[in-house]
Amino acid sequence: MYDYLIVGSGLFGAVFAHQAKLQGRKVKVIERRDHIGGNVYCENIEGINVHKYGAHIFHTNDKVIWDYVNQFVEFNRYTNTPMALSKGKLYNLPFNMNTFNQLWGVKTPAEAKEMIFRQSKEFSGKEPSNLEEQAISLVGRDVFETLIKEYTEKQWGRDCKDLPAFIIKRLPLRYTFDNNYFNDKYQGIPIGGYNKLIENLLDGIEVETGVDYLDDRDKWNSLAKKIVYTGPIDRFFNYSLGKLDYRSLRFEHQLLELDNYQGNAVVNYIDKKYEFTRIIEHKHFEFGKQEKTVITREYPKEFEEGDEYYYPVNDKKNNSLYIGYKSLRENCVNVIFGGRLAEYKYYDMHQVIASALNIAEKELINE
Ligand code: FDA
Repeated sequence: MYDYLIVGSGLFGAVFAHQAKLQGRKVKVIERRDHIGGNVYCENIEGINVHKYGAHIFHTNDKVIWDYVNQFVEFNRYTNTPMALSKGKLYNLPFNMNTFNQLWGVKTPAEAKEMIFRQSKEFSGKEPSNLEEQAISLVGRDVFETLIKEYTEKQWGRDCKDLPAFIIKRLPLRYTFDNNYFNDKYQGIPIGGYNKLIENLLDGIEVETGVDYLDDRDKWNSLAKKIVYTGPIDRFFNYSLGKLDYRSLRFEHQLLELDNYQGNAVVNYIDKKYEFTRIIEHKHFEFGKQEKTVITREYPKEFEEGDEYYYPVNDKKNNSLYIGYKSLRENCVNVIFGGRLAEYKYYDMHQVIASALNIAEKELINE
């Protein structure tokens, strides 16, 4: 009899399993896909770690989490410095002095601030009535039209004038020549890829892939005292209250017979004439020197049956549906729900690790 049967081998399941094993519990992990790792899984193509379910850059301000992951794998010094291609010209992101210099030729923070101040007054004294007005009042018309408008419209499939203002709460502007996308103290990519992190977390733990817990839950329940479920919450309850919505993405991977396609891991494509929103060149996450390269074009898309679940749609309707499911969880005393799918929440990797460590600590110490 297992103490815990863990459903899902993503970061939540792997961290919980590791902690339980450390405390001497008998655990088994089952995974529906034919590989471990959940969405951080990388496929090795020509020696390059290809982020199969979207680009993953680890970043955190929390030293405890940083030290935790570094026990399992060493991280490189990768710093995310995305570029944006708009109307044939390249710009640095996030919006900083390099971007302002590329846009207007300004050289000092005072000149840049003056430009933004002048342009952001367009709707002053008026409550922004849509995303376009909101964005212009935060960063001015030039930044909006060059770097935000068409990209946002591709992502949402709607005109910025038809999107609500609240989608953009703030747009950080940096008046320094600093292209580092994240403000966090720690950042990097595991040397050798994310699979190494997951494999080391699950070292010595029984794992079975290609098994769906919900296909035979009675059997699995009879084998363990408790279940840790990290799959979609609505599916666990047979969609009894209705289906939760997700936004999806389509990835098109391509192996190229050249060593360097775009010189950067991430390039955003702003213009609508490109249907994709960005191109990822995976080797640059690990400073790869391979002869070939793999790129991935990322296309936003409406969710359809059979698609991967990427982003929860945390609007009013879906949040209240989730609350309904959450109350059903109270009848399941032997099930622990965790991770992005069971909690219907967008979690970054460091956040999902923190959540798994917290839940594991409460569970394993109180038990
Ligand atoms: P995850 O989905 O990884 O794992 C759940 C596992 O359970 C899956 O493997 C699934 O197959 C399995 N499962 C489900 N139902 C099952 C069943 N019935 N039986 C058996 N197995 C079942 N974060 C960050 O910090 N930096 C970044 O750059 C990014 N980038 C990024 C890009 C994209 C496109 C997305 C969607 C997300 C990110 N993230 C991110 C977030 C990151 O992916 C996320 O925090 C973790 O992968 C969440 O781990 P979980 O274990 O919660 O879920």
